[in-house]
Amino acid sequence: MKPIAVIPGDGIGIDVTRECMRVLKRVNEKFGAGLKFVEFDWGADKYLKEGITLPADALPMLRRDFAAILFGAIGDPRIPDNRHAADILLGMRFGLDLYANVRPVHVLHEKLCPLKNVGVDDVNFTVMRENTEGAYVNAGGVFKKGTADEVATQEEIHTRKGVERLIVYAFEYAKAHGRNRVCMSDKSNVMLYAGGLWQRCFKEVAARYPDIAPSHLYIDALTLLMVRRPMDFQVIVTNNMFGDIVTDLAAALQGGLGMAASGNIHPDGISLFEPVHGSSPPMAGKNVANPMGSILTAAMMLDHLGFAGPARTIEEAVRACVAADQTTADIGGKLGTREVADAIIARL
Ligand code: IPM
Ligand code: MN
Repeated sequence: MKPIAVIPGDGIGIDVTRECMRVLKRVNEKFGAGLKFVEFDWGADKYLKEGITLPADALPMLRRDFAAILFGAIGDPRIPDNRHAADILLGMRFGLDLYANVRPVHVLHEKLCPLKNVGVDDVNFTVMRENTEGAYVNAGGVFKKGTADEVATQEEIHTRKGVERLIVYAFEYAKAHGRNRVCMSDKSNVMLYAGGLWQRCFKEVAARYPDIAPSHLYIDALTLLMVRRPMDFQVIVTNNMFGDIVTDLAAALQGGLGMAASGNIHPDGISLFEPVHGSSPPMAGKNVANPMGSILTAAMMLDHLGFAGPARTIEEAVRACVAADQTTADIGGKLGTREVADAIIARL
């Protein structure tokens, strides 16, 4: 078993990853999973001190020496252009070709869901967000910057290969998880070129999976229905930017960003796991951040590495803590980051 690379990053990424590691180490001992952990200090402090964002040999080193990456969060007000975040997080997403951003959305207890009369079985779907292209390639430019005539362009890149492999991944995921509906979402009524490619790829791939019902929604309609009829969704597949936006909305259905987990997956290579929340600088270092998103992310990582049992054990411990209100203030509890981890560890 290769080691796990742990990158806490910035802000509350450091707080939640510290507690997540205590849970993970406990599970590792208890189940004899044989995992080893190596921590990396890539983030704002290192960048400000040494000028280094993602070290030059990082990507081949990660590929060669590690089984998975556990990430915290990135972003720091001292670096307003977010240069280091682009290099480190997007650098790994793009450089390691982590093309499927898998964001499961399930509510662990109905009290966490802000919708009326919605139970735990009603919010249970997964968003597959394209993770290597779209608006995130940052193509474009500015002309006459700072003048009254300034022009800015921001282009999206969608490739046949990139769109098709993600849609295939969504259908394979549905098949593997006993799901029989996949909904593709785009804005093909306005963005005709990219939308056309997504539409054609989706129809072609869907035809290869006769047991799975394909459907389509424009992204604006998806946001409405995700709130009004979350129970209608099983697997949603969409582009990088739309996926970014709707997974914050989806996180709200689960109790907020503090509860949402994700995996940045390359099916045949190393993958990176991170909570959906950001670095939240005002909360950093105060023992107030919710560590459950990070801990549920660690469970996702274990599941991916073939440790389904330990993953389930973590999820059940988190669920029990939520039921008993052993939680941070964002989801109604009175505990700190560390005390929530203590409560989870006590239930393992
Ligand atoms: C996310 C985050 C990132 C993104 C930021 C931090 C670059 O919002 O993982 O959803 O936009 O992808
Ligand atoms: Mn986001």
